[in-house]
Amino acid sequence: MSAGALISEAEFKLSMRQLAGAVSVITVGDGQDRSGFTATSVSSFSAERPSVIVSVNRASSSWPLLQRYGCFCVNVLAADQQQVAQSFAGFDGRKGAERYNGAEWYCLKTGAAALENALTVLDCELETVLHHHSHAVLIGHIRAIEIRQGIGPLLYWQGGYHELPVEDHRRILAKPLRQ
Ligand SMILES: Cc1cc2nc3c(=O)[nH]c(=O)nc-3n(C[C@H](O)[C@H](O)[C@H](O)COP(=O)(O)O)c2cc1C
Repeated sequence: MSAGALISEAEFKLSMRQLAGAVSVITVGDGQDRSGFTATSVSSFSAERPSVIVSVNRASSSWPLLQRYGCFCVNVLAADQQQVAQSFAGFDGRKGAERYNGAEWYCLKTGAAALENALTVLDCELETVLHHHSHAVLIGHIRAIEIRQGIGPLLYWQGGYHELPVEDHRRILAKPLRQ
């Protein structure tokens, strides 16, 4: 437990294991000068000025690229994209541009890489950065969006990847869309 902390890091991690999250891959940079990371910290921020927030560890390889390029893509992963999540979490030892191998990518508006067949892609201009201890909160203004229909999300819960049962997401997707 660090000085002044009321709860331990271990206790915090146990609590966070209970928080189910959608899994996204944040891409940043260009050509060989690129990296990215798997993230569950993505959240909707504002519809009026379409924007999202993401928190990033400033020790990660993506941080200097985010500062330099000023844009990123949030690729929300579909249930069949667990391999991409593993790669961008660094679990298979791949670094930087190598993490992009084995999946198809394209560009929308900002130049950051959009993942083919992601559940949704949010192409963002980095508008605001809030620094807090080891991490930064990024506010991204969305410049372009792609949406894939017909498949459920990849979820992270209790330290592992999960999918909604096929029957559940079929039933949910069968409901008429409400704006
Ligand atoms: C499910 C999951 C969610 C994660 N969420 C975040 C996140 O929101 N922000 C973050 O900075 N790192 C997050 N990470 C860790 C990064 O993906 C990982 O540390 C990063 O890819 C490695 O940094 P590197 O590029 O310096 O090797 C998460 C990892 C996993 C497996």
